[in-house]
Amino acid sequence: MQVAARGPAALTSGRQRPCRPACAGLWPAPTGLSARCRATAEVEADSAVAGWEEREERGTRFVAGPAFYRPESCAGRDLAVLAAALQRKRTGRLRVLDVMAASGMRGARYLLQADADEVWCNDLAPDAAMHSTMTYNLCTAAAAHAEAANAAPGTDPAAANSHASNASTNGGSSDHSAGSSAAGGGPVAADGPAGAEGAAARRQAAAAWEARARVVRLEGLTRDVCEWDFPPLPPASPDPEAGVKAETIASSGTLGAQPSDEGAGTSQPTSSSPGASAEGRTEERPGPEGSAQAGPGPGSSAGDAAAPVRRVRITHADANRLLTNCFMREDYYDLVDVDSFGSETQFLPAAIDAVRFGGLLYLTSTDGFTSSGKRPERALAAYGCYPRATPWANEQGLRMLIGAAVREAAARGVVLRPVFSLYSYHGPVFRVMLRATSSAEWESRHYGFLGHCFVHGDNYTLGWRSLAGAVCRCDSRGKLRKSEEEPQQAPADASASAVEGSAATEPEPSASPDEVKAPGPSGAPTPTSTPAPTPLVVAGPMWTGPLHDAAELRAMAAEAERRGWTGTGLPKSAEPGGNRAKSSRNSRPLQELLQLLIEEADPRLAPGFISVDDSLSRRLARPPPRDALIEALREEGFAAARCHLESRAIRTNACMEDVLTVAEQRLGIKRRR
Ligand SMILES: C[S@@+](CC[C@H](N)C(=O)[O-])C[C@H]1O[C@@H](n2cnc3c(N)ncnc32)[C@H](O)[C@@H]1O
Repeated sequence: MQVAARGPAALTSGRQRPCRPACAGLWPAPTGLSARCRATAEVEADSAVAGWEEREERGTRFVAGPAFYRPESCAGRDLAVLAAALQRKRTGRLRVLDVMAASGMRGARYLLQADADEVWCNDLAPDAAMHSTMTYNLCTAAAAHAEAANAAPGTDPAAANSHASNASTNGGSSDHSAGSSAAGGGPVAADGPAGAEGAAARRQAAAAWEARARVVRLEGLTRDVCEWDFPPLPPASPDPEAGVKAETIASSGTLGAQPSDEGAGTSQPTSSSPGASAEGRTEERPGPEGSAQAGPGPGSSAGDAAAPVRRVRITHADANRLLTNCFMREDYYDLVDVDSFGSETQFLPAAIDAVRFGGLLYLTSTDGFTSSGKRPERALAAYGCYPRATPWANEQGLRMLIGAAVREAAARGVVLRPVFSLYSYHGPVFRVMLRATSSAEWESRHYGFLGHCFVHGDNYTLGWRSLAGAVCRCDSRGKLRKSEEEPQQAPADASASAVEGSAATEPEPSASPDEVKAPGPSGAPTPTSTPAPTPLVVAGPMWTGPLHDAAELRAMAAEAERRGWTGTGLPKSAEPGGNRAKSSRNSRPLQELLQLLIEEADPRLAPGFISVDDSLSRRLARPPPRDALIEALREEGFAAARCHLESRAIRTNACMEDVLTVAEQRLGIKRRR
């Protein structure tokens, strides 16, 4: 498709014209050409169908075309889809803006597996093959969903494109039980022939979809918007689990108003309806315009009747321009997905502006070089954080990204809180799903510094005013050593008494950053003979709060289980670790990953982790068994967990001195002297 750049134009409504010539790039090459022309045409045709072989991820079929697609990122997409599906269950509406969509296969998953009412996929790449790929993936997903619902009411529409019970991928599907009253119509997914023939058939289906696109102009956006409308989904069926979850979140103040007062995606800007929460951004963020005159828009408010249409949109604009355009038109999305290469902080302000209160913001960064502390000046510019080369540098990458987003949001009166964080070794890739709510009170107590003592191996959380005292006092603050002197039971909630180092835990909710004490003695006076304390290597400011929301993760795990989502979600042949039975750092079965994240979400755990093979091996005669050490620490009253960033590491609120004592006394592993 030649997406012509035109000057800002008034909105066009429902104008039907093909995005691109429907015959372009078809295979086989037309007959009646000279041998040379035919050879050239065949070469062109071959390249036209390259990438059109069918792939599969978590049961969703798609083509990658010329787009960037990484199977290893399946876990990140699984988690995003689960969070999105819960969002729709709770609010009855899901409008997704995926501004760096590549092939659009993620958008297809939001349609099929999260029941999105609207998916708008954008990718800067304007070439025809990319556009066709996105068109095919999104339109076949939306149409298949609708047709399955229509053809067999009571069956799962997602099965049309999802292998609902595919044992190899554990595809599973969404939870529709009611059928739609209308069929999607249009070309269906080419499921038949394999090889070049199948690829050509899919390519033809894409061309047919392209010919059916309605091309509209949105006010202020100079790029064409291709859109397709499909029959609406049935209203979200009540889900007790999601209801319980919504209550939990609402009572903890992290979720904005549930029902919206607006028809999401309705064509005409709507005014707020009575009863909308001030926190729901719904009062300030009325419905979108744009496709206004193009017919009724997708989505619906909770409690509304089913939305009039379900919409797919494709654009090829710069992400920042598109996000800002949505903000300018007061068109806010329930999920804004920014899956960029490198650092994505340049997109943060506009992405935050485009998300609805109570909605989700999914951020990805692949800036491993910066997060490892190797280019601190670059990180300072991008994240406002001065990172250091610490043993937990990859966690630093997550915390830098969250911190930058949280602070940027705070400047705009928006509070962002992690739903989940995910580090993936390939890339590396840092992903965070954040929930946006409206509040002038941001969680500044979770925006500070982390310190590491390279001598003793301890980690510290530091407030702004305790920076001057950023020294290690490991040798004077082991709780267990102290308890030997004054025999007493280790507290069940170790966080109650632990204040520094690995034992540094979050301050009480009312505490100001200054109350996060600087490292210092935890009770026993420091002997006068103690050598001068070791200065810490300090990094920040960054997010020092929890990386995940445990309640959200539990709801996601329950949803995954309900769908039968297990394994890596990829066909065996596409699994990063090949046919290896055991999980690797590049591919972990979903249920295992979710359990790990839930463990990590224990709010008593301090930031940072302790590597068994590095930190502990250097201090003990032999590396302790990870799980036995975790168990022993828990028995001593400490919080302890595995770590998703590094399989041979532990998280704990015990300081190194206590970890070593536990290893010595409970596991019989002597210290190195
Ligand atoms: C990591 S890929 C996206 C992968 C995709 N989300 C998935 O799950 O398969 C990043 C995409 O962003 C696009 N991109 C890069 N810069 C962009 C920009 N400024 N605006 C919009 N898209 C951009 C690239 O063309 C590329 O396709």
